[in-house]
Amino acid sequence: MEIITLLGTALPIIQAPMAGVQGSALAIAVSNAGGLGSLPCAMLSADALRSELHAIRGATDRPFNLNFFCHTPPQPDAARETAWRACLRPYHAEFGIDPDTISAGPGRAPFTADIADLIEAFRPPVVSFHFGLPSPQLLARIKSWGTKVLSSATTVEEAVWLANAGVDAVIAQGLEAGGHRGMFLNMDMSTQCGLFALLRRIVRAVDVPVIAAGGIADAAGVTAAMTLGAAGVQVGTAYLLCPEATTSAVHRASLGSAAASHTALTNLFTGRPARGIVNRLIAEQGPFSPAAPDFPLATSAVAPLRAAAEARGSGDFSPLWCGQHPPLMPGLDAAAITRALAGLAPG
Ligand SMILES: Cc1cc2nc3c(=O)[nH]c(=O)nc-3n(C[C@H](O)[C@H](O)[C@H](O)COP(=O)(O)O)c2cc1C
Repeated sequence: MEIITLLGTALPIIQAPMAGVQGSALAIAVSNAGGLGSLPCAMLSADALRSELHAIRGATDRPFNLNFFCHTPPQPDAARETAWRACLRPYHAEFGIDPDTISAGPGRAPFTADIADLIEAFRPPVVSFHFGLPSPQLLARIKSWGTKVLSSATTVEEAVWLANAGVDAVIAQGLEAGGHRGMFLNMDMSTQCGLFALLRRIVRAVDVPVIAAGGIADAAGVTAAMTLGAAGVQVGTAYLLCPEATTSAVHRASLGSAAASHTALTNLFTGRPARGIVNRLIAEQGPFSPAAPDFPLATSAVAPLRAAAEARGSGDFSPLWCGQHPPLMPGLDAAAITRALAGLAPG
């Protein structure tokens, strides 16, 4: 089935859900432009999610996507947390932060039955997942609403697993992609693969449509992905500078500078591998630290550093998520970017 038929959109362009840098405004703009707008829900409280859903339902009658994480919340590990704080101690001292005042607490919650209760009334046309899928019971419940389900695969094995579990389409997330790797069957980084090879291999391995993600920044990139067998594309970084995104000032400055041409996968900001622009924390600590607590617990001890540095106009301690292709259309709004990606307007 064609992806536009499956999703009910005019264009095969999915705006990637991007937790922390966007809300309903970006999703609405993309959906109204004919793409599939996405709302990242992993960092939203129940009240915030409900209000964002009302905003979307009030502003568009086009399909939209709700995105959730499916990680297993880790057991807090006191020894690991102590080791992590020891790594960060010089920075806490530099900014006058008392480590004893840092509250531990996960900033990202996985999908639960309570969330299913909340979203059911809104009948979301599409729900996408990162880091696997919820339980078969929850998945069946979502599908019983007529909702189409997508999830990210970073290996052929993950794509086959997702297809066997009943997703309607698989998102092939190439190594180029900004933000978190969706990896869930195997956390070995040597399994991760660039989009060209991953896409071809997944297209051969599964019967469901495959959506290409990672490093796609313009219409030529979209055409290339479709030529390689993608049914559609999911694009994130290209939207980070548009006015509808809530990307912070330091993140925008970095994305618009030469720094954006150097990204790395790092576990320093959340405990899971994610791609962002290399900044001071990554450069000084190295992109991967065995001391970083499991996702999302690493976030707590970095958060006050991030806040203190950002107050001084610095992104030295911020997760500057960005794919390997920096944004190409900095002056355009989300609708214009969507049309340009689809080849309907100049980019
Ligand atoms: C700032 C940022 C935040 C992201 N947050 C999420 C998220 O909350 N959920 C998700 O499924 N994917 C997330 N991703 C990954 C995207 O789904 C997608 O794989 C990626 O944006 C594609 O690569 P590109 O950024 O090069 O276009 C994020 C990506 C970025 C750049």
